[in-house]
Amino acid sequence: MADENNVSMLVSEAEIKARIESLADEICAVIDNSWLVVALLRGSFIFAADLVRAMHKHGLTPKIDFMTLSSYQDGTESSRRVEITHDLNEDVIGKNILLIDDIFDTGRTLRETSKLLQSRGANEIITAVLLEKPARREVGFRPRFAGFQIPDKFVVGYGLDYANQYRTLPFIGVLEEIK
Ligand code: IMP
Ligand code: MG
Repeated sequence: MADENNVSMLVSEAEIKARIESLADEICAVIDNSWLVVALLRGSFIFAADLVRAMHKHGLTPKIDFMTLSSYQDGTESSRRVEITHDLNEDVIGKNILLIDDIFDTGRTLRETSKLLQSRGANEIITAVLLEKPARREVGFRPRFAGFQIPDKFVVGYGLDYANQYRTLPFIGVLEEIK
């Protein structure tokens, strides 16, 4: 069973809350209601929910849609593939898209998803993530908006999982030891 005993806190609940407010300020300076928000499930569901509510304080009421991708299986190793297991309902042709994910690790997920949305006729795509691991980047771009840069450690909480556990932790923590 997942518990908090083997998780050491890296980013606190209060830090996350404050950073989401400032991220919403930054994002709302560049997007408007015509943009489509696309959140990648399952890892970004809590971040996306808090971010869109912070954006609402700026008067933004964009359409929101979700995609489920699998790139990590039941563990900490990337399978180096990105597969769509649940697709969007919204049409993206000609749309500007704010693409939200929990973490930019190698960057492959956001690269492949951006390519896919472009191939479907999306217009501009900008990316927002809560966390970024700069040491792990394998692609030629960085997320446009990133909440926190973190070291190369496997983290859980605030939506991020290990084997679909720990998502409910209100903070981001490093998984010290896998039981
Ligand atoms: P990327 O394609 O390598 O950038 O990986 C992005 C995806 O891998 C994220 O959407 C997460 O689901 C998962 N991931 C990467 N690093 C971590 C981590 O430290 N904890 C939990 N999930 C992670
Ligand atoms: Mg993910």
